[in-house]
Amino acid sequence: MTSTLSTATTPEESERATVPQFAVIPGAQVQHVLQGREKEMVELVAATYQLHAAGDSVNPPSYFLRFPDRPSSRIIALPASLGGPNGVDGLKWVSSFPENVASGIPRASAVLILNDHDTGYPFACLEASIISATRTAALAALATDQLIRGRPRPTRIGFLGVGLIARYVHTFLAGSGWSFDEIGVYDLSTDSAAGFQGYLEQFDNAGQVNVHDSAEKLIRSSDLVVFATVAAQPHISDLSWFEHNPLVLHISLRDLAPEILLASTNVVDDVDHCLKANTSPHLTEQITGNRDFLLGTLDDVMARRVTVPADRPLIFSPFGLGVLDLAVGKYVYDKVASSGRLQVINDFFHELRRYG
Ligand SMILES: NC(=O)c1ccc[n+]([C@@H]2O[C@H](COP(=O)([O-])OP(=O)(O)OC[C@H]3O[C@@H](n4cnc5c(N)ncnc54)[C@H](O)[C@@H]3O)[C@@H](O)[C@H]2O)c1
Repeated sequence: MTSTLSTATTPEESERATVPQFAVIPGAQVQHVLQGREKEMVELVAATYQLHAAGDSVNPPSYFLRFPDRPSSRIIALPASLGGPNGVDGLKWVSSFPENVASGIPRASAVLILNDHDTGYPFACLEASIISATRTAALAALATDQLIRGRPRPTRIGFLGVGLIARYVHTFLAGSGWSFDEIGVYDLSTDSAAGFQGYLEQFDNAGQVNVHDSAEKLIRSSDLVVFATVAAQPHISDLSWFEHNPLVLHISLRDLAPEILLASTNVVDDVDHCLKANTSPHLTEQITGNRDFLLGTLDDVMARRVTVPADRPLIFSPFGLGVLDLAVGKYVYDKVASSGRLQVINDFFHELRRYG
């Protein structure tokens, strides 16, 4: 339940007049709630994703705001409504400005607005770059667990593009029980590669860290490949780099040329969402004129409606669903509210009497 502000003056009014109080949850509070809860977040994301796949959600297409004067940047709106016991409505509004990184600030920034089920009033605004990275990494860890069935357990992971998302994916894999003998790193930026290597050194059992000088070497030496670049169009098209049939988490969505997808098994989070916005699966659909290259969704794999062949590369392309942000955001809200530390903005909603 959200905390409410009553404007009622009579007993009858107090039955119905409940405008939620509006709270702001800064990043420090979000991080405090989520830190160390990797396993719980993987379970929450799995349950939410399955609710969505079962139809208990409204998750319209994401809306991309782009700018003619800043072509590499975008702001995406992800409105969504989640059913189930922790149902909530809301919107993530997430910016991607890749040039930020050169200035020393993160590429992505975001807020998440939660709306009250009964009145529609927004009742919270949360810092959401952490929430977004959390739901992305939790789904990546869930997908790894599910997709690896029937394949040898990967002992060599390779990260291609090592910014914040790569860090979160590693944290969530490690936090949900994965460990690797070798961790490969490749990034166009030597600073990023060095930064990620420094992060890995904090782990006693991180495994042997190898920084590669080419994408080819990284892919050839990894059973599990994580793409987390900011590539706007495919830059990898040599199928022979994948001849050892790795599992590929294609989180950045636009790195792989259609010929790689056509020679692989393809799993997505949501077909209609993922075949949009010039993702590699979308380009593949445009070239072939059909969706036959898709095996199915992660939910199909989880429910065992499809069998994943082990004799081809396996590519998981998750578009990212607003319902997952909502679920993680609502979890954070509930924890902060029950701790008594909710920072309420008094009188945020002010014009509450219809005729003054
Ligand atoms: N699918 C999802 O649900 C989802 C969710 C969140 C983020 N993402 C995507 O994850 C990606 C990474 O996000 P981030 O916040 O870590 O970005 P970031 O800017 O922090 O890091 C990206 C890194 O990729 C490197 N890079 C760029 N092009 C490269 C290339 N061709 N080869 C190797 N390295 C390259 C950059 O140098 C940088 O270090 C973005 O594309 C973002 O859109 C996807």
